[in-house]
Amino acid sequence: MITRICPIDGSSLAEAKRILETGGTVAFPTETVYGLGADARSDEAVRGIYAVKGRPSDNPLIVHVHQDYDLNELVFDDRPYAKLLRDAFLPGPLTLVYKSRAAVSSAVSCGLDTLAVRVPQHAGAQRFLRYVGLPVAAPSANRSKHVSPVTAQHVYGDLAGRIPLILDGGACSGGIESTVCDVTGSSPVILREGLVTREQIAAVAGSCGVYKAKEGEQVRSPGMKYKHYAPQCKTVLFPAEELAGAVSYFAEREQAGSRIMALCEHAAASAFPAGKALDLGTCGKEFAANLYERLHEAEERCDELVAVEPRERGGVMAGVLNRLRKACGAEK
Ligand code: TXA
Ligand code: MG
Repeated sequence: MITRICPIDGSSLAEAKRILETGGTVAFPTETVYGLGADARSDEAVRGIYAVKGRPSDNPLIVHVHQDYDLNELVFDDRPYAKLLRDAFLPGPLTLVYKSRAAVSSAVSCGLDTLAVRVPQHAGAQRFLRYVGLPVAAPSANRSKHVSPVTAQHVYGDLAGRIPLILDGGACSGGIESTVCDVTGSSPVILREGLVTREQIAAVAGSCGVYKAKEGEQVRSPGMKYKHYAPQCKTVLFPAEELAGAVSYFAEREQAGSRIMALCEHAAASAFPAGKALDLGTCGKEFAANLYERLHEAEERCDELVAVEPRERGGVMAGVLNRLRKACGAEK
């Protein structure tokens, strides 16, 4: 199969619609990462997503809709705080998990009685979703367990030959996946941390929990149990306070002939040899925006990556550290 990368215009949107209506998959940009979309109402189309990605079939998908779509067609929206969250954050990088009306294929939620819904704010995503007029099931547009794509070229690198069309909306500005928040209970519970922070959700809803799986318990957001977001190079992660240790490890490995680079915040970059540090930026928002781009760059430029956690904490750092730790091999 030939994979085309096209700017978002009348002709690529018509092509995307035709592909979705015939059960195929199309990659499209969002403000977080690129998504791999298919018609959420079709069992066959949704199964196609799992096949293209090589994704385990017990990891449910998010349904994407445009901003005027009536969510009541898809879910029971009975919690007053959920409406407040919608008004405050949508369209935007927040995915809400509701009780499902079972209006889409059961393969989307892997048989769960809930449905994750997201209204992206990226103008190209809105245009695409409005044009096709369907609920679009979409995970990130990468091979399962690889780093999520933040450019059309990253999608191409992972999925060329496996999908017919990538809608190119430029680099994603947010850089890490949406916050996934369960709104079925009496107060919101974050299942996956992301760009909309716990503090922001609590300020609107009054409180906000963060779900942590206990040993032996069934995981509420199945995606969180998998190793994720990993680049193809070897990775070693150091906590922020062990910068000196990271620098001496780097020197040792370089001496031994390793094609090695560092990944760290701007302030730590000068501790490594000139040109050898991939700079994440200076604050949480920049770290999020740059993380996956730098991990893709690391795969191209080195065989081993020494990552040092940025020092900042709170807010978007919960999501940034979650992704960085997973990229560097932590299972949870
Ligand atoms: O930013 C994003 O969310 C991107 C873009 C493309 O929208 N999508 C994305 O999808 O990251 P994916 O498939 O890589 O991650 C979806 C996450 C997984 O952790 C999954 O377990 C969780 O959402 N999820 C989906 N449906 C769920 C449900 N019904 N209950 C609990 N968790 C759910
Ligand atoms: Mg993903």
